[in-house]
Amino acid sequence: MTSIPMPASAGSKTARADMPLIVEAAPRSVSVQAKDLALGFGSATILSDLNLDVRKGEITALIGPTGSGKTTFLRSLNRMNDKVAKHWHQGDVLLEGASIYAPGVQLMALRRRVGMVFQRPNPFPMSIAGNILAGVKAHRIASKDHYRDIVEARLREVGLWDAVSNRLNSSPFSLSGGQQQLLCLARALAIGPEVLLLDEPTSSLDPVTTENIEAMVRTLVPALTIVIVTHNLGQARRISDRTVFFYQGKMVESGETSQVFEDPKEPETARYVTGRMG
Ligand SMILES: Nc1ncnc2c1ncn2[C@@H]1O[C@H](COP(=O)(O)OP(=O)(O)OP(=O)(O)O)[C@@H](O)[C@H]1O
Ligand SMILES: [Mg+2]
Repeated sequence: MTSIPMPASAGSKTARADMPLIVEAAPRSVSVQAKDLALGFGSATILSDLNLDVRKGEITALIGPTGSGKTTFLRSLNRMNDKVAKHWHQGDVLLEGASIYAPGVQLMALRRRVGMVFQRPNPFPMSIAGNILAGVKAHRIASKDHYRDIVEARLREVGLWDAVSNRLNSSPFSLSGGQQQLLCLARALAIGPEVLLLDEPTSSLDPVTTENIEAMVRTLVPALTIVIVTHNLGQARRISDRTVFFYQGKMVESGETSQVFEDPKEPETARYVTGRMG
């Protein structure tokens, strides 16, 4: 048990000097939790029996063969499946202990907290600066006089500033694929998410751009919690703290990345991480 001082402005009405705020010395805090999650579309069950704690401030990699449900699971963490026809789910997903499926949860607010970058870069059809500012404006995160600074800071953060500083008002579609993906990453970061979901963000990029993105993603933790789907096992080993192996719609194994790769507990995991199953 640890006692932490109350911030000067917090809880002044209820806190008493003889009652310091006590927090349990939790082993590590959890950001997102899947609890007995099952989901599917119509009569098809895609994922079942899913229980997972995503630790705060870490990078969790989701690996597994094609069709094993990685993307479907990732998209359930900010309710991107909701709009898919005949989608259903059982169980729950908690963000900081609260259900994201609870009545009254606003999807826009949820997606501000849990951002996403997709496999294919998807810049909006507006200027480069406009892309960075789209969410900032929609969520009224900053006033107009801060826009320029935000654009520069976010583009610098992803290492894109030098390449685009002289064409901020141009279309993003003149950028290379890797640059477009960095722009999408900057756009996702601009709204200040707590959790960032990355679905194979480097699968269409060359090794150098991939390495740059991996290095940049590492700099985002522990301020952010990251969940990344990847088919690139080297990437999972390089950047993730923990790895989860999916197979046929089930979470077969999860653990420290080094353990999952070097000492997998389950035979399917061993076959996959050694390249005997594709
Ligand atoms: N909208 C949908 N309607 C019906 N089935 C779907 C839908 N979306 C996904 N599926 C099915 O769910 C299963 C899991 O798909 P998902 O995209 O989650 O796999 P994945 O592990 O991300 O695969 P990959 O590595 O190829 O990206 C697949 O069998 C897929 O056909
Ligand atoms: Mg996928």
